[in-house]
Amino acid sequence: MADLDAIVALDLDLFGPEAWSRDTHTDELCNPFRSYLSVVEDGVLIGWGGVILAPVSDLLTIGVARSHQKQGIGARLLRALLDEAIAGGAREILLEVRADDAGAQRLYARAGFEPIAVRPNYYVATGQDAVVMLKTLQ
Ligand SMILES: CC(C)(COP(=O)(O)OP(=O)(O)OC[C@H]1O[C@@H](n2cnc3c(N)ncnc32)[C@H](O)[C@@H]1OP(=O)(O)O)[C@@H](O)C(=O)NCCC(=O)NCCS
Repeated sequence: MADLDAIVALDLDLFGPEAWSRDTHTDELCNPFRSYLSVVEDGVLIGWGGVILAPVSDLLTIGVARSHQKQGIGARLLRALLDEAIAGGAREILLEVRADDAGAQRLYARAGFEPIAVRPNYYVATGQDAVVMLKTLQ
């Protein structure tokens, strides 16, 4: 919760019209069935992400500040979030990613996620499709 303001700002910068409201972020960070991680450098938030703690988990969101992308931070954050999901009892984990976001899909494929379905018009603000990806954890 100490990072709430910075998370709201980073989410808005990265996701624009698809960013969550401040109330949604607050609810998420306070939810005992979630685990959120922050990446902080010199006191500044440069990344964050969260997973559901349940047998079938979900990668809820992940983002790295534009100034710090393509340095391996996203891949490390993803691995840490998968560890959180496993520690929370997850056997598999799902995610949704924009169908036109080849970069994010490569990141997930390298981490062992496989595409299993497409959800048409998943992103309400933009009408874009989502690819659903699945990874078995244990
Ligand atoms: C998706 C996202 C989290 C990835 O974060 P990231 O920190 O850039 O990820 P990584 O650095 O681990 O990997 C990204 C690329 O950088 C490359 N890279 C990693 N370390 C590198 C380095 N030291 N030097 C150069 N390139 C590097 C990776 O090989 C990868 O290449 P690719 O684009 O060919 O796949 C980030 O781009 C982001 O926040 N995007 C906006 C929000 C978003 O779309 N989130 C996902 C929603 S589903």
